[in-house]
Amino acid sequence: MDQFFDDIWRGLKASPKYLQSKYFYDEAGDAIFMEIMECPEYYLTNCEREIFSNQSNELANTILNHFHEFDVAELGAGDATKTVYLLEALAKHKADFTYYPIDISANIITRLNKQLPGIITGIRVHGLNGEYFAMLEELKRMSAKNKLVLFLGSSIGNIPLAETAGFFSALKAHLMPGDLLLTGFDLKKDPKIILDAYNDKAGVTRRFNLNLLKRINNTLDADFDLSQFEHCPAYSDETGECKSYLQSLKNQIVRIGTAGRIDFKEGEQIYMEISQKYSVQQTDEIAEAAGFTVVRHFYDSKKWFLDALWQYR
Ligand SMILES: C[S@@+](CC[C@H](N)C(=O)[O-])C[C@H]1O[C@@H](n2cnc3c(N)ncnc32)[C@H](O)[C@@H]1O
Repeated sequence: MDQFFDDIWRGLKASPKYLQSKYFYDEAGDAIFMEIMECPEYYLTNCEREIFSNQSNELANTILNHFHEFDVAELGAGDATKTVYLLEALAKHKADFTYYPIDISANIITRLNKQLPGIITGIRVHGLNGEYFAMLEELKRMSAKNKLVLFLGSSIGNIPLAETAGFFSALKAHLMPGDLLLTGFDLKKDPKIILDAYNDKAGVTRRFNLNLLKRINNTLDADFDLSQFEHCPAYSDETGECKSYLQSLKNQIVRIGTAGRIDFKEGEQIYMEISQKYSVQQTDEIAEAAGFTVVRHFYDSKKWFLDALWQYR
């Protein structure tokens, strides 16, 4: 709660203003993100689902060539519907593993702990509720087995490109040489297709962004008027950056409980989230810079999305 206040206050007092996208995911945010994944414009989920539904046997074989007894840790597991294909394939191949979904949303972890044993007979599930690295550290204390880390849905795209190799280097501090990492990267494509994915006609992504203002109202006793902010995504094909903003529709003052006031000018934006798009070469360069070896690339049939399997060397 204090951390939430500190982060929100610092972001809204900054110039330009920003909010951290990890705070999108309260119970309402989780549900709206699931709606986003069903939007016709949001191609990312369908592409990655195709990879997992068609190639999970191949993926499982490739993983089992490296180790047979291991932990599967998933960073930001969400509803794990794509992951289930891989977990089923691993179970079919009689792999000896425990699945550790990690998520900042307590609601998600409670649901996965409850639902997954009913979907995959005999699976061992141990959900970890918290931030990626803190939970990997907890897992390291619980088990010394090799790790297969999953980081799907292009969540890596929420980290600016210049910080991405640094993120993967920091991840290594929680792993052992030989461990595997499977990351989803959304690839560059027709800019209109990308922009539409973050600006769906039904306005679900708009609702997802505004929900964070609602969360701030509810949690910090603030008085954002949601009708006075508009969702504005922007994509640059040159940099591959797709950024989302909430734009103030007028000069206005927002009070954050008793902490104080935030002034907005008409047209002023709050930077909400980046969703970076990559070339395949960029992903290989990131692996190299972070000290991973590329084991194999798995693509969907349109080559819009890449799940890259890397090994810590
Ligand atoms: C965009 S969703 C992706 C879900 C899933 N991986 C998929 O591919 O559908 C991101 C998930 O990561 C979680 N998350 C975001 N930031 C996080 C953080 N810093 N630590 C742990 N979980 C986080 C959110 O709660 C959410 O469930």
